[in-house]
Amino acid sequence: MTHLFEPVQAGELQLASRIVMAPLTRNRAPDALPTALMATYYTQRASAGLIVTEATAISHQGQGYADVPGIWSDAQVAAWKRITNAVHGAGGKIVVQLWHVGRVSHVDLQPGGQAPVAPSAIAAKTKTVLIQNGVPTFVETSVPRALRVDELPGIVADYRHAARCAIAAGFDGVELHAANGYLIDQFLRSSSNRRDDSYGGPIEHRARLLLEVVQAITQEIGGGRTGIRLSPVTPANDVSDPDPQQLFGYVVSQLAPLRLAYLHVIEGSTGAARDYTQGGKPFDYPALQDTYRGAGGTGAWMVNNGYDGALAEHSIIEGADLVAFGKLFIANPDLPRRLRDGTPLNTPDRSTFYGGGSKGYTDYPALA
Ligand SMILES: Cc1cc2nc3c(=O)[nH]c(=O)nc-3n(C[C@H](O)[C@H](O)[C@H](O)COP(=O)(O)O)c2cc1C
Repeated sequence: MTHLFEPVQAGELQLASRIVMAPLTRNRAPDALPTALMATYYTQRASAGLIVTEATAISHQGQGYADVPGIWSDAQVAAWKRITNAVHGAGGKIVVQLWHVGRVSHVDLQPGGQAPVAPSAIAAKTKTVLIQNGVPTFVETSVPRALRVDELPGIVADYRHAARCAIAAGFDGVELHAANGYLIDQFLRSSSNRRDDSYGGPIEHRARLLLEVVQAITQEIGGGRTGIRLSPVTPANDVSDPDPQQLFGYVVSQLAPLRLAYLHVIEGSTGAARDYTQGGKPFDYPALQDTYRGAGGTGAWMVNNGYDGALAEHSIIEGADLVAFGKLFIANPDLPRRLRDGTPLNTPDRSTFYGGGSKGYTDYPALA
């Protein structure tokens, strides 16, 4: 495994290796405030070339799960600063994943108990997590209301504000969460976007919100500190599209001139089959990368979903620049060292993924 350990430049991010810790929601931030335990967890994993934090809400309206952190208030910025300081002190790099869940929420999590917002008033056939009597409990998401066009500038402004907060909190950059059926992805995919205004219908319209948000973030903090996560074919959170190749080809060609730090692509169904597809034919990821490069895109190409060390090494040889590992990083705080030395890996415990305390969070053993 030599390629995985080569340093790489991703925009303004100078990374010591190709090994990235994927964003992982862990529901351990009551009142949307990052904690000291989270600082321990991330610092334990600072040997990653880059850490992408768990998805972090850009606003109260952007929240869809119990006990997920936010990045819009001064208190949240101060709390995150303790985490970024600790990770930097341990020699790591860390970006925050900026999140608006759109319709994947519940009235109990929304300001004033209102309906969650979405491109169209179509409920997602999916569940979210509430804490009921102290116990994390899966519940159906609430029926959303369609956003009015005059509300969208406010959402773009919330992303811009969150990006500014991220830099104030000491993050090395941000990753825009445009994957997994959350707000931006709901606008992109036709199953969840039935609008007939300038944000719905043709691909150029459905991609408009994404591009406005990326432009706002890059104006605020620079393209070189901005990454984006896409999941062209995932069915996560009940989204689909009949022509993902054309849709995401358009998206990456429009992102190319923005000189982003990286594009992070989930291949297949998130956390499931890598060869899962939508639109009736296999998705051509090399063609997507070629479209991006052909349009002048210079960002690092980050891949994810079901990678082990050998597949990761192979993908770097084949032209990926970075590989993000999710579940393996949950269970192996020293994953890079284990991959380098071929040491056996700890097994992740699914029962402690979402919610709880240090068990299954900061107590996975590292090699002595
Ligand atoms: C517990 C858990 C939480 C996750 N939270 C997020 C998240 O906050 N943001 C995101 O984009 N993906 C999230 N994912 C998806 C992972 O980032 C990753 O795409 C997925 O686990 C596949 O990678 P892996 O096979 O290396 O685990 C989560 C996955 C798991 C298992």
